[in-house]
Amino acid sequence: MELLAIESSCDETAAAVVRDGREVLSNIIASQIETHKLYGGVVPEIASRKHTEVINQVIDEALSKADRQLSDMDAICVTYGPGLVGALLVGVGVAKALAYATDKPLVGVHHIEGHIAANYIAHPDLEPPFLCLVASGGHSHLVIVKDYGEYEVLGRTRDDAAGEAFDKVARAIGLGYPGGPKIDKLAREGNPQAIEFPRASIEDAPYDFSFSGVKSAVLNYLNSCEMKGEEVNRADVAASFQEAVTDVLTDHTMQAAMDHGIHRIALAGGVACNSYLRDKMSAACETRGYRFFMPPPILCTDNAAMIGSAGYYEFMKGVRHGLDLNAIPALALGK
Ligand code: KG4
Ligand code: ZN
Repeated sequence: MELLAIESSCDETAAAVVRDGREVLSNIIASQIETHKLYGGVVPEIASRKHTEVINQVIDEALSKADRQLSDMDAICVTYGPGLVGALLVGVGVAKALAYATDKPLVGVHHIEGHIAANYIAHPDLEPPFLCLVASGGHSHLVIVKDYGEYEVLGRTRDDAAGEAFDKVARAIGLGYPGGPKIDKLAREGNPQAIEFPRASIEDAPYDFSFSGVKSAVLNYLNSCEMKGEEVNRADVAASFQEAVTDVLTDHTMQAAMDHGIHRIALAGGVACNSYLRDKMSAACETRGYRFFMPPPILCTDNAAMIGSAGYYEFMKGVRHGLDLNAIPALALGK
């Protein structure tokens, strides 16, 4: 079964051809980062326009790289939420047009399910059930993947997503957008124990996250240094902030694994590129004898291969969408 997958939920226009949910024949990503950098973050209207400009080319390239024609595809999958509504609509509109023109099945895919499914591509032997930490620019979820397409959300963020906190702190210390990779790099030169930033936990919701407190603590620290005329060691701030966020992500995940007796842990989403988090989760799993799975960084940030993987399992379950498929910006996870 070979599927064409399309992803346009944020600032990457992507298309891929995926065979049987696990094998990537092509994975084309046109990033808009250079454009949005100028504004310090993603500008939704510009994102939609850029998607419109390149999406046909990206799809053509995905097909030609896979050495396939559109007519060879068994179905067309597309992210229909969550994400920026104008951005999502570009992918959804194109996918519907292609499905209509070729009379092929259309499968709408949940973006977060795609992030989780990136692990199926990277680890051909991974099967549900497992516990997955999904940390991206828009979401932080702790999820039990009970079966393909079946999720129990144990925890989510109460305010900022982990990636959002990385991006905001990076901006505050003058690193620019996107902040995650820049903090990751700068933190290597800093001392993670230099500054004690808070690790938030929420009473009665042990698996929920809150990152606005640590972000505010960093801003307060920077302000107080300025007021006292003290020079800020940006590498120490980056390393200490990263230590606090990755501690919370890792601790909550390990607690959930222990409480639910799940010994297979996966990582997903853009923040899963973070080298410190990858090492910390890997070490925590090793100490406890858990198996640990994570996709390579190229499959952690937004891409269409992951959508082709999640779409395959939906397709096999019989999911089909009609030409009335719409973008749903706040599409919920968990059925
Ligand atoms: O999954 P993704 O590409 O888009 C969303 O679905 O949101 O995630 C993007 C997020 C951004 O906030 C970015 O700063 C963060 O992932 N990110 C990282 C790293 N690489 C990307 N955060 C921390 N360390 C990284 N190395
Ligand atoms: Zn994403």
